[in-house]
Amino acid sequence: MKLKLKNVFLAYFLVSIAGLLYALVQLGQPCDCLPPLRAAAEQLRQKDLRISQLQADLRRPPPAPAQPPEPEALPTIYVVTPTYARYGLWYAQEMRWTRGVSVWPVGLVGGLRFEGPRVQDGRVVGFHTAWEPNRPFPVDMAGFAVALPLLLAKPNAQFDATAPRGHLESSLLSHLVDPRDLEPRAANCTRVLVWHTRTEKPKMKQEEQLQRQGRGSDPAVEV
Ligand SMILES: *[C@@H]1O[C@H](CO)[C@@H](O)[C@H](O)[C@H]1NC(C)=O
Repeated sequence: MKLKLKNVFLAYFLVSIAGLLYALVQLGQPCDCLPPLRAAAEQLRQKDLRISQLQADLRRPPPAPAQPPEPEALPTIYVVTPTYARYGLWYAQEMRWTRGVSVWPVGLVGGLRFEGPRVQDGRVVGFHTAWEPNRPFPVDMAGFAVALPLLLAKPNAQFDATAPRGHLESSLLSHLVDPRDLEPRAANCTRVLVWHTRTEKPKMKQEEQLQRQGRGSDPAVEV
């Protein structure tokens, strides 16, 4: 059969008209599309509500920081004192000057002769330790003091009991101080005046290991 172009156009035209008429008829018919539309509108409304609640929360001013009590009403220093550490008399004397967080070496700890901050020009520039030296604050629990007013001014500063092993000190101190602002004590951390003590010969495994690498504890420091 031979198709004439004119007939193809005619058929196309008729089909289009029929489609248009069908659509026009449908327009007047009742439709049960309302419930899904309502549900969608309700969902959008809930979302808007949630967003405006969140925006309101954001605009609300943060709670006023807890006012630290008057300094003279307080003992100056908060000290973390594990029962297995021994402190000399200097401890009470020198720590009184702690303004933020002070640090010092601790003897016979972490398998070393001593662990402690490295100090240059009166500032802490690193830490001598064998174990995980990249912890934010690789200091021993017996090796720091925090001024009480600072602690009270930072209500979020707490020991995190779920912190990985060796990170308990860091979990508290990272809320309180930048490592560069630590205050070195014990003659710029050149003297060991606090020790971990046990009724047995101290273990020196890490010390021997570091000595083999030429990084042992400074032999000039008396422990
Ligand atoms: C610590 O070092 C600083 C800077 O070198 C110095 O001014 C200060 O006197 C030293 N402190 C002690 C107690 O040695």
